[in-house]
Amino acid sequence: MKKTKGIVLAGGEGTRLFPTTKIYSKQLITIYDKPLIYYPLSTLILSGINEILIISTKTSLPLFKKIFKDGRDFGLVIKYAYQERPRGIADSLIIGEDFIGKDDVMLILGDNIYYGDMDFLRRAKNENENATIFGYYVSDPQRYGVVEFDEKRKVISIEEKPKNPKSNYAVCGIYIYDKYCSYYAKKLKPSKRGELEITDLNRIYLEKNQLKLEIMGRGIAWLDTGTPRSMLEASSFIGTIEQRQNLKIGCIEEVCLRMGFLKKRNFLKLVKNYPESDYKNYLLKIYEEVR
Ligand code: DAU
Repeated sequence: MKKTKGIVLAGGEGTRLFPTTKIYSKQLITIYDKPLIYYPLSTLILSGINEILIISTKTSLPLFKKIFKDGRDFGLVIKYAYQERPRGIADSLIIGEDFIGKDDVMLILGDNIYYGDMDFLRRAKNENENATIFGYYVSDPQRYGVVEFDEKRKVISIEEKPKNPKSNYAVCGIYIYDKYCSYYAKKLKPSKRGELEITDLNRIYLEKNQLKLEIMGRGIAWLDTGTPRSMLEASSFIGTIEQRQNLKIGCIEEVCLRMGFLKKRNFLKLVKNYPESDYKNYLLKIYEEVR
């Protein structure tokens, strides 16, 4: 079976979150009880991916390394690369070219939070032929990439932040590509805002009739982070569900254990070294529960 690797793009300037982002990237900011990057990272892992490249700024990269090291403690392989300046989302596929090699890649934006049953993502990953994007119904499509499609879900057009959106379906910040994505990304020209746009890359696949659209249903929550208010809203969303169920969302150790990447004894070895905290107590409870 083919292999799919993962990339988390966790750089950018995060200007809307200044002054915090003067210190570090926004993907390190706490959302309720853990850093933002835990959520998209666990989404990749839940789809069955265990080899992941984290791309961030030169200043923040050592901080990500401090958390995840080479990934071994979690049963993962984690590599790192930095982006000199925010040259665009598609730039991550150029930076990750050697890492991707001959495999497929699932790229996720480090500030995107998804909550719900991730079966659809696992399936989409296994079924990907060339490129797969995900559409999500929103009230304000002009803030996103927007996908227009016919009744058979065949993509008709895809536009970046259009003034007059052709549908209410935003393109989510998760993309699956074949090994040619880096080659196509290198052919892109910077847009008016000076970035290598992921929408332009998706259009290359569309023109080749190789772009598949999956709709992310209403059972999935896709949360935006990027402003102080949206960070607060995401925190209270996560906090509400975690309190209600006494189960954590985006808990990397738990996800790696449940996905079979981390053996129980290695899980315990890792957790035993954690400082006394609710997070540690939660993981010890999970240890007792998981067979
Ligand atoms: O969230 C989904 C949307 O993400 C898509 O619908 C759009 O098509 C896509 O262009 C993108 O839109 P944004 O303009 O909202 O993306 P933004 O520039 O905010 O970047 C998303 C994240 O990626 C952000 O956390 C910063 C990081 N990033 C971004 C760029 C451009 C980098 O690490 N490096 C970069 O060069």
